[in-house]
Amino acid sequence: MNDSTIKIFDTTLRDGEQSPGASMNLAEKMEIAQALVDLGVDIIEAGFPIASPGDFESVKEIASNIRGASICGLARCNPRDIERAWEALKHSSQPRIHVFLATSAIHREFKLRMTPEEIIQRGIDSLKLASSLCDDIEFSPEDASRTEPDFLCRVVEAAIDAGATTVNIPDTVGYATPNHMHKIITDLKNRVPNIDKAVISVHCHDDLGMAVANSLAAVEAGARQVECTINGIGERAGNASLEEVVMALRTRHDYYNVESKINTKRLVPTSRLLSNITGLQVQRNKAIVGRNAFAHESGIHQDGMLKEPTTYEIMRPEDVGLEKTDLVLGKHSGRAALSDRAKALGYHLSAEQLQVVFEEFKKLADKKKEIYDGDIAALCDQQIRGDGRQVWVLESLDVSHGTGKEPCVKMTLKHGDETKSAEITEGDGPIDAAFWAVERITGVPLTCKDFQVRSATLGRDALGEVTVEIESDKKVVRGRGSSTDTVQATVHAILDAVNRICQM
Ligand code: KIV
Ligand code: ZN
Repeated sequence: MNDSTIKIFDTTLRDGEQSPGASMNLAEKMEIAQALVDLGVDIIEAGFPIASPGDFESVKEIASNIRGASICGLARCNPRDIERAWEALKHSSQPRIHVFLATSAIHREFKLRMTPEEIIQRGIDSLKLASSLCDDIEFSPEDASRTEPDFLCRVVEAAIDAGATTVNIPDTVGYATPNHMHKIITDLKNRVPNIDKAVISVHCHDDLGMAVANSLAAVEAGARQVECTINGIGERAGNASLEEVVMALRTRHDYYNVESKINTKRLVPTSRLLSNITGLQVQRNKAIVGRNAFAHESGIHQDGMLKEPTTYEIMRPEDVGLEKTDLVLGKHSGRAALSDRAKALGYHLSAEQLQVVFEEFKKLADKKKEIYDGDIAALCDQQIRGDGRQVWVLESLDVSHGTGKEPCVKMTLKHGDETKSAEITEGDGPIDAAFWAVERITGVPLTCKDFQVRSATLGRDALGEVTVEIESDKKVVRGRGSSTDTVQATVHAILDAVNRICQM
């Protein structure tokens, strides 16, 4: 590998999916994996195959069907994990096994109850097994940033000798600072005799808001792989955000002197795709992909921008895929135009999915004159989310409410060939009554942890998008639904969540 090339390792589908409420079904994961290939990432960490049968299946499907990037699966340092990971990955044209083992004193003593020598031996045995199965092996000493530097050097040297081709340095708890991270990588480069036989990688969490800065400091010190996620989603405060790392390296090429393979024009569409699928919206002022990232409000800035854009703009919106115009479709637009727009937004619909989206598009076009990208994204998401997960389907909904009146919700749901109905005439408004109705019909207890409504696009007739976060029997899931009728959108969102729960 050219020393000025940075590999981008995306862990949205593994570390990202570990963040509460970000769980995705198989169809959604496939959609994201394909979008990551289109974006140009080098490695996709598709999941943790031993974690659950669902995780195993999704890693296997991605490994079997997605081409154009390495597909990686996570494993702890034990034979069962490693063999399971290989079972899922072996159909990939570029498989990678990623094994990890905690190395810091705190993890050794309290979590693993193992001595330093036992840690080294466990690492060696596991890496030998992994490299007997697969040529591309990554090793992560978990909590590396809190590991004694001498011990970290010993572990890394032993890992490379035992077959690791990439050594990843995780700041597991987001404890590092940029100077600290720079020193860790510099130390490894100076003190580990076989370090040039492996790629040095970095994996930072954002607990102190420094994940991107720490990743860049590691690159400056010589790391040549960065692990990150779309929109920075991930455990707790999240991981380093892919779009920020990539655009910092590109915009400050004068300083970092490295290049990634990322097609930066796909950054905004990929970010939106993930938000639409998970319901986790990025904040407006989020760097690169936030709605305000390129909006100049101050008169002085606007004046400068009109005279010469570079006065206040260090990146061009079009370079990150922000289109100046939101192309409008209407009821006379055909399937080809819809298909083109869906593709530009990052969706890969099968012919059958496109047909259903097209029918829904026509119905929507009857209700509202202009159909924007947000509407199309909402229709595509509904279709992708629904694929293979339609345990309960809304058949009919009748809602009445008003000032000083108890709400009344009459609902009928389909479950296979059966239909079940409920009529609720109490509750704290129609939304509460809708929750009661779904709970009564499906028998799934529902605690609403979060409820958000936003309009998919501009205008009074816009599609309303509802996101709910629901807890049921200690499982937390998100559900999304859209409709021009907000109560109906809510019911779709609740059912989306219930259907996820039923399939867990
Ligand atoms: O944060 C972490 O330490 C991890 C490892 C599994 C790489 O996610
Ligand atoms: Zn992590």
